[in-house]
Amino acid sequence: MTLADTKAAVAAAADTTGTASANGTVTAAASAVLKESEVRGGGIQMRNVDKIYPGSSKKALNDFNLDVKPGEMVVLLGGSGCGKSTALRSLAGLEDIQSGRILVGGQDVTGVPVNKRNMAMVFQAYSLFPHMTALQNVEFGLEVHGVGKEERRRVAMGKLELVGLADQAGKYTQQMSGGQQQRVALARALAVDPRVLLLDEPLSALDAKVRVQLRDEIRRIQLDTGTTTIFVTHDQEEALAVADRIGVMNGGRIEQIDAPQTLYQRPATEYVATFIGLTNRLPGSSDGREGVVFGRRLPVLPNSAKGSDVTVLVRPENLTLAAAGDAADGSAVGEHARVEVIHFLGALVRVDTVISSGKWQRWNNGEQLKVTVQLPANELPAGLAVGSDVIIAPRPVAALAV
Ligand SMILES: Nc1ncnc2c1ncn2[C@@H]1O[C@H](COP(=O)(O)OP(=O)(O)OP(=O)(O)O)[C@@H](O)[C@H]1O
Ligand SMILES: [Mg+2]
Repeated sequence: MTLADTKAAVAAAADTTGTASANGTVTAAASAVLKESEVRGGGIQMRNVDKIYPGSSKKALNDFNLDVKPGEMVVLLGGSGCGKSTALRSLAGLEDIQSGRILVGGQDVTGVPVNKRNMAMVFQAYSLFPHMTALQNVEFGLEVHGVGKEERRRVAMGKLELVGLADQAGKYTQQMSGGQQQRVALARALAVDPRVLLLDEPLSALDAKVRVQLRDEIRRIQLDTGTTTIFVTHDQEEALAVADRIGVMNGGRIEQIDAPQTLYQRPATEYVATFIGLTNRLPGSSDGREGVVFGRRLPVLPNSAKGSDVTVLVRPENLTLAAAGDAADGSAVGEHARVEVIHFLGALVRVDTVISSGKWQRWNNGEQLKVTVQLPANELPAGLAVGSDVIIAPRPVAALAV
């Protein structure tokens, strides 16, 4: 039984019984999945890893810690130079580390040579052999592992089928498109049935459409094979789309690692809040539990700064926007603003405004206080146009004060 079969069995059994834990068969099947994942590779632990490149005084990894569960897909996200590739290369054994430990499936692999770690890596550049066909490229890794000719062909064809290229097996890779070449590289990585799959910006050389297609396919294949995977990107949309969890890196370590939605809704730091999604920086106050922005109360997240003069990071969809005329009796709490740009995004509308009350004219060294609001298109006040006077206020959704 393959891992995918076992997973399907678990899902089917859970469907008929309603609850998984109440049924002995399901529990047995679930533990079989876990056991198989563990046997295949288990999780990854990187503990207090420091990496300094020769000739450099800066730590590329600085007390780096990461835990990946068996079968999980973790995405490392972060700006250029924050250490994403170094983390992958250190894990794969392509770089020596100065301190810390690396464990795979509970085994300490620190110092174990790269070819003994049973990991496969796919890079940004396709790194295929141009004088070989797609099939020969995929067979290559198996040949290195001493797999016999017939078995090689069978496995390689299976992997090409998995990535949707069975009909292109005989083509030279230099005659293939970028997306096809990257599929071949992926098939080659999967052919050796690695314990761990490492993907370093595998999609960044591809155009937007192919990129989305292949991204979704990688996720499907990863779920299907149950391979523990780390995927590096600096594209937040890509990260949000495929990850079980996202680790946001900054200065050689992970600043926060959580499920995509948690990262977006409950960022632990300003860096994370501003790296993922859009956010407004609004003047306000906070006592560490509750804040006030534009005269309106809202909860603040743990880790929030306290004080009468703090910046509160509020997502555009967590602000309300009303036409000022509708609140002519003065009952509406909020701040007056002038509409600058209206972006129609289909079902949603994003409205860029500038706060027009004199109170905030000296905000941020005399710069105007710009606020972006996002709302469903059908909630846009009638007649709203550039130059309209509106009232903006935060919704009572938890935000980070910094
Ligand atoms: N071979 C090397 N020799 C010296 N310094 C290096 C080497 N490779 C990387 N560095 C440095 O280590 C730090 C981390 O680099 P790394 O390549 O891991 O970043 P990254 O997050 O993958 O960035 P990018 O998004 O640009 O790929 C950077 O400051 C970089 O300049
Ligand atoms: Mg890199």
